[in-house]
Amino acid sequence: MAIKTIDPKTIKTSELHQILLSAVAPRPIALASTVDANGHVNLSPFSFFNVFSANPPILIFSPARRGRDNTTKHTYENVKAVSEVVINIVNHNIVEQTSLSSTEYDKGINEFEKAGFTAIPSEVVTPPRVAESPVSFECTVQDVIELGDKGGAGNLVISKVERIHIQEKYLNDKGSLDTQKLDLVARMGESWYCRASGNALFEIPKPIFNKGIRYR
Ligand SMILES: Cc1cc2nc3c(=O)[nH]c(=O)nc-3n(C[C@H](O)[C@H](O)[C@H](O)COP(=O)(O)O)c2cc1C
Repeated sequence: MAIKTIDPKTIKTSELHQILLSAVAPRPIALASTVDANGHVNLSPFSFFNVFSANPPILIFSPARRGRDNTTKHTYENVKAVSEVVINIVNHNIVEQTSLSSTEYDKGINEFEKAGFTAIPSEVVTPPRVAESPVSFECTVQDVIELGDKGGAGNLVISKVERIHIQEKYLNDKGSLDTQKLDLVARMGESWYCRASGNALFEIPKPIFNKGIRYR
C-alpha cells in the first residue's frame, strides 16, 4: 500500500490547511451572530465548530487568523469586546445565504441584511438570532483561547449555552429534534458541502446491550 507521509512543518500553511479541511470532514457549521462594543451586529459562518460538553453545555468554534495577511476576523474581535454569541445551526434551506454571509464585508456591515436573514432579538444576550435557522443557541463566551500568533492560527471561542430556540416544525411527535426533518449541511474540503438527508443517513444501533464478538 503506497502511503504519502507528511511532516506538517515542511509544507506551506495553505497546503496543510486544505489537507486538514478535506480530511477532517464533514464539519457542522456555526452561523455566529456577535456585536461589537458599539452594538453593530455581525454574522459569519464557522465550520471549525462542535459541541464539547453537555453539563455544562459548551460549544466551541474558531474564527482563525487569516492565512493571507495574518489579520483577525470581526467575530473574534467582537467576542473579545462583548462576551456573547448566538450560534445558529445551518440546514439546507439556508446554506446559500450562509455562504453569502461569509463575504468579507467592512467592519460594521450587518450580514443579516446582506444575506437576507431575519434578526430576532435574543432573550439573554445582545446579538440577535437568525429566524430562518432551525436551532439557535444563545451563549455567553467563557473564554477565548488563542492557539498562535501566525496566519492560520485558530482562536477557540468557548461558548456556554444559556438558551436554546428550536423551530417546532423540526420536532418529531415525541418532541425531539428530528434528524430527517432537520436536513443539516456540513462543510468538506475545497468548496464542497454535504447534506445529511435521504440515503446519506443510516442508523447503527449502539452495541451496548449485546457485546460485539469481533468484526471479522
Ligand atoms: C461554510 C463556511 C465555513 C467557514 N468556516 C470558517 C472557520 O471555521 N474559521 C474561519 O476563520 N473562517 C471560516 N470561514 C470563513 C469566514 O466565514 C469568513 O472569513 C468571514 O468573512 C469572517 O467574517 P468576520 O470577519 O465578519 O468574522 C467559513 C466560511 C464558510 C462559508
